[in-house]
Amino acid sequence: MSRELWTVAELASAAAGYLTRKGIETSRLDADLMLADVLGWTRIDLYTRFDMPVDSHARARYRELIRRRGRREPLAYILGRREFFGLDFAVGPGVLVPRPETEGLVEATLTLMEGRSRFRVLDLGTGSGCILLAILSRFPEAHGEGWDRSAEALEYARRNAADLGLDHRATFVERDLLKTLGAGPPPRVDLVVSNPPYIRPDEGWDLMPEVRDHEPAAALFDREGDGLSFHRAILAAFRHLDPMPWVVLELPGWGGESLRTWWKDQGAGDLRVVADLSGQERVLIAAGGETFRHPEPLDAS
Ligand SMILES: C[S@@+](CC[C@H](N)C(=O)[O-])C[C@H]1O[C@@H](n2cnc3c(N)ncnc32)[C@H](O)[C@@H]1O
Repeated sequence: MSRELWTVAELASAAAGYLTRKGIETSRLDADLMLADVLGWTRIDLYTRFDMPVDSHARARYRELIRRRGRREPLAYILGRREFFGLDFAVGPGVLVPRPETEGLVEATLTLMEGRSRFRVLDLGTGSGCILLAILSRFPEAHGEGWDRSAEALEYARRNAADLGLDHRATFVERDLLKTLGAGPPPRVDLVVSNPPYIRPDEGWDLMPEVRDHEPAAALFDREGDGLSFHRAILAAFRHLDPMPWVVLELPGWGGESLRTWWKDQGAGDLRVVADLSGQERVLIAAGGETFRHPEPLDAS
């Protein structure tokens, strides 16, 4: 990239070629999104202004972003944001990038809470706050708390709450839930949601470099080793409450059925599992109290 004159199209093509050589499958999309970001344009602008020259200052900034991406840093960290459930979330090193599959958990929760307005929700392992804030964005009278033991993640969560105008209804607390839950009476909430870290330490060898080398290990791995630490802590803390709050959990790819069986073996009453479009069981909903309206009969099979 040492030529004097580079048009938008030439620059994006050269960058995409570089990223392809670095093994990035979405090289063209990524190159475009980073160039649009540097220029302060939309991606469509790149096509309508493809023959415009890019000045040397913008080229230098672009080169730096492309280098970072070439080192397999997640695109969301480089751009500093990720869309989740139609909302814009600030993200960066130290916080998990919200995943599209987690939108399934939010959708299942919205269906579950349909018709309710004032309720309290607790998001355990809140990270960027994406789950809690997406739920609150749809229920203007609901309030919630997000716990995480990562101070870095909570900074993003608080910033996201403020950016989305939800900070008067969302509180974020630095707390190790494995130590806190069970150490005293649990918070009185109507709904507990969580996307727990569920990769076992013996797994993870096939993670993408973006995830393995850049995202926080504590957000991915269950250190106790069986992927069930959050499940145990949540069940132990809330099972004796009357009514027990609804519990909505994201399931790992490995364990929809086995986790459903585990919850049933622990004596959980109402259980339902929601599958994604490919048929994989991705969300578990457990034992809500009678104060809630059941949109349809619960599937206890
Ligand atoms: C899989 S990430 C989910 C983040 C976010 N809820 C999402 O869906 O994008 C799990 C989160 O749990 C947090 N975490 C891990 N162990 C924890 C613990 N013992 N106590 C509190 N938070 C914990 C991590 O810091 C991370 O933010």
